[in-house]
Amino acid sequence: MSDQTVEDLIEACRAMPKSDALFRTLLRTGREMAAPDMILNFLREGAKGFSLSSETRCAIADFTLQMEAPDAGLLWVGDAMEEGVARVRLLLACDKRDEAVGLYRQLCDADNNNHRPDLDRALLAVAASSRQGAEIFSLTGEKIEEGGDVPPTGFQPERETISFENVGGLEDVKKQIARKIIMPFQKPNLFQRFRKKAGGGVLMYGPPGCGKTMLARATAGECGARFLNVEITNILDMYIGESEKRLAAIFDEARANTPTVLFFDELEALAARRKFSHNNNASALVSTFLNEMDGFAENNEGLLILAATNVPWAIDPAFRRPGRFDRILFVAPPDRVARLAILKAQLAGRPQEGLQLDRLVERTAGFSGADLTNLVETACDIAIEESMGADRVEPLQQDHLMEALHECKPTTLEWLSSAKNYARYANEGGLYEDVLAFLDKNAKKR
Ligand SMILES: Nc1ncnc2c1ncn2[C@@H]1O[C@H](COP(=O)(O)OP(=O)(O)O)[C@@H](O)[C@H]1O
Ligand SMILES: [Mg+2]
Repeated sequence: MSDQTVEDLIEACRAMPKSDALFRTLLRTGREMAAPDMILNFLREGAKGFSLSSETRCAIADFTLQMEAPDAGLLWVGDAMEEGVARVRLLLACDKRDEAVGLYRQLCDADNNNHRPDLDRALLAVAASSRQGAEIFSLTGEKIEEGGDVPPTGFQPERETISFENVGGLEDVKKQIARKIIMPFQKPNLFQRFRKKAGGGVLMYGPPGCGKTMLARATAGECGARFLNVEITNILDMYIGESEKRLAAIFDEARANTPTVLFFDELEALAARRKFSHNNNASALVSTFLNEMDGFAENNEGLLILAATNVPWAIDPAFRRPGRFDRILFVAPPDRVARLAILKAQLAGRPQEGLQLDRLVERTAGFSGADLTNLVETACDIAIEESMGADRVEPLQQDHLMEALHECKPTTLEWLSSAKNYARYANEGGLYEDVLAFLDKNAKKR
């Protein structure tokens, strides 16, 4: 790549200050150069006049870290959410420790998902070298050398507080989770006596918005375990080799403080069969994942691995071998009982008058839990609008909900029709029996 080309690319970025694609091309080019000084100098001019996506700004953070120019990165990266986490890394690299500590603490307080094992460790080290910090961090339960015991942590994800009660309906699935997951987890000795192994993982599948994530959280709640939600796409965005390290660190972090539920949402991002996969570098990551999961090297006691996917047919069968995701549960769209429970939960505490939920339940077949939530929100918007016109609080009425019903459509039908095809024509060893049973039952009802 000639200097002239790079200069042209920089000029193009200046001319199109909103083009994420262009900017990322520039960064990619920079990675291929022996000395990307021109690009770093450009970045050091600052972000004024540019309007880039958060994703691009995170990419800038990664780039400047890799090029050992974190000061340039700081000019571009804000302090909220994912970007905030990137900023913490930049601050650390610039040796601005107090600022890094302050921001990280703020991010983790706001949302447990901002917690990153490697940052916990790095900041624990920072804390160990400064008395003031020692009061803030005791992240992994490790003791800080000279300080002795340290007060309870700021960052450790809390034990999950929602439980099965919060999840409407799905009684069958809850029963199966209780029997196959929670009991072996709570009474490992009993199961050992019958030579049944705890461990392995549970994969939930079903249409989006029907409570998979919620069930995973509730399972952690029922076990009194803490809940670590792993977004696979966040792991994948890193450089080659980094993803594996990061994944291993997550497992370490989970083992360091059991009982923990480790939840992999959108498992297909990691576990896709070749023909579904867009990621050619996935194989090293997959083997890291399977090794960690098999737990040959480490003891996975007290670690419960759950995963969810909307596209079970895209999952590589290697992931379903014994000891891996060998228990597979269908999380169906809510039935009448479940819809009623979800609607009640959503309506609780909102001003309302004379609602006939039975009628609504009849009209919402095929609605996911998320669709129902959306329905109630939409109806509330209508009531709020009326209240503003009337200058008093108009309680939510049946008409509002019925009107909202015109705007909100069920989203599970499309999923069910693809699932039906897979169940009929590619029902790998009866994997989708539950889907067929569900479709059968519902066909009869109509
Ligand atoms: N069975 C349920 N009971 C109560 N709320 C539900 C249920 N299913 C879905 N919801 C609502 O829909 C939202 C999305 O559900 P989620 O668990 O994220 O779905 P999934 O992970 O299957 O896509 C939840 O935050 C909750 O508000
Ligand atoms: Mg989910």
